[in-house]
Amino acid sequence: MSPARRLLLLLLLLLLLALSLLHPASATDCHPEDKEVLLRIKSALHNPYHLASWDPDTDCCSWYCLKCDEVTHRVISIFFLQADLTGQIPSAIGDLPYLQYLNLRRVSNFSGPIPNSLTKLKYLKFLRINWVNLTGPIPSFLGQLKNLTYLNLSFNKLTGGIPDSLSTIPALGYVSLNRNQLTGKIPASLANLKGNDLYLILSHNSLSGELPATFAGVDFVKLDLSRNKLQGDASLVFGRNKSTYYIDISRNQFKFDLSKAKFNKSLTYLYMNHNKIYGSIPKAMESVHFLNVSYNRQCGEIPVGGRLQSFDDTVYFHNRCLCGAPLDSCK
Ligand SMILES: *[C@@H]1O[C@H](CO)[C@@H](O)[C@H](O)[C@H]1NC(C)=O
Ligand SMILES: *[C@@H]1O[C@H](CO)[C@@H](O)[C@H](O)[C@H]1NC(C)=O
Ligand SMILES: *[C@@H]1O[C@H](CO)[C@@H](O)[C@H](O)[C@H]1NC(C)=O
Ligand SMILES: *[C@@H]1O[C@H](CO)[C@@H](O)[C@H](O)[C@H]1NC(C)=O
Ligand SMILES: *[C@@H]1O[C@H](CO)[C@@H](O)[C@H](O)[C@H]1NC(C)=O
Ligand SMILES: *[C@@H]1O[C@H](CO)[C@@H](O)[C@H](O)[C@H]1NC(C)=O
Ligand SMILES: *[C@@H]1O[C@H](CO)[C@@H](O)[C@H](O)[C@H]1NC(C)=O
Repeated sequence: MSPARRLLLLLLLLLLLALSLLHPASATDCHPEDKEVLLRIKSALHNPYHLASWDPDTDCCSWYCLKCDEVTHRVISIFFLQADLTGQIPSAIGDLPYLQYLNLRRVSNFSGPIPNSLTKLKYLKFLRINWVNLTGPIPSFLGQLKNLTYLNLSFNKLTGGIPDSLSTIPALGYVSLNRNQLTGKIPASLANLKGNDLYLILSHNSLSGELPATFAGVDFVKLDLSRNKLQGDASLVFGRNKSTYYIDISRNQFKFDLSKAKFNKSLTYLYMNHNKIYGSIPKAMESVHFLNVSYNRQCGEIPVGGRLQSFDDTVYFHNRCLCGAPLDSCK
């Protein structure tokens, strides 16, 4: 090896050494500001056993219940699942500026409201809080989370109405607010949701009034309004041009003539039982795979064709005067 080459090699080794001193093994360490926030969260939750791995002497990207971005090493995801944690949702979570996913499910002893500090999470895409006994309203400040695509607050004890602000979130498509104690009308603004796939799940609440007329123009993928106190005409959720595959409007007080409704072949699940729906069953319903129209006020012969005769009689029973297979033949 020539002296020049030897010198070059030596310089290279020195450079590598210098680099490794500048960035010790902690080149993968999470950001010190995130670490400080995580420790505040742990302390707000009274240092629970569930967060035993949150040891200040270790790389916080290796801690349980969170995930860091592989390149930036910033915390992007927090998930407390089936956790024994006491208190409220720590407001310090809002100080993790790069958080994209917040997933709290079956946290055994949480309660209280959704903290306002979440509005600081400009990158939050996914917000799921289920079985956490959240109370208070669905805060209208959630509308400030402009990056949100998925909002699931089902299985809590939320009260009050559905805020209009949700419709101002540009790409929000999945909205699950089922199994709460929500009241009031379904806001017409929900028709402005713009996500690529629209899922609107509002079942098991106390929503009342008529459906907004604006829903006639919305092509939901899945719409579940069951077990509320909704009234009036629900036929506007159907449509020849809609690609909806799942509609559940059962156990409400809807009252409309089903015979005039138009259907698209993509509709696979259709549950309408326990309403005040009248008229006959349209032939176009023969392409539905799962059906229930029981406990309504329908009349006339069940059209012959498709799957309509393969359902058991409980799909049709307790109507005013439906007849034909699988019910008794018409007189
Ligand atoms: C639940 O939280 C309350 C206070 O928020 C506390 O008094 C109680 O001990 C907690 N229960 C359990 C099982 O941790
Ligand atoms: C929610 O509160 C009820 C009492 O109202 C309690 O029985 C239940 O265990 C709580 N659930 C959770 C997940 O904290
Ligand atoms: C949403 O996130 C993207 C990056 O994923 C970012 O460029 C954009 O500014 C964010 N939107 C808002 C309103 O902060
Ligand atoms: C919302 O969460 C509940 C409970 O975990 C789940 O059953 C439901 O499928 C979720 N909704 C959506 C749209 O993912
Ligand atoms: C359904 O689609 C057809 C053709 O694309 C269009 O002419 C018609 O106006 C649409 N109907 C509704 C109710 O959107
Ligand atoms: C059913 O809906 C799909 C998607 O909107 C559409 O492409 C199709 O033409 C519709 N079918 C009929 C018969 O209009
Ligand atoms: C249809 O709904 C009725 C009333 O809720 C129920 O008793 C029946 O079992 C259902 N039938 C099917 C096939 O799900």
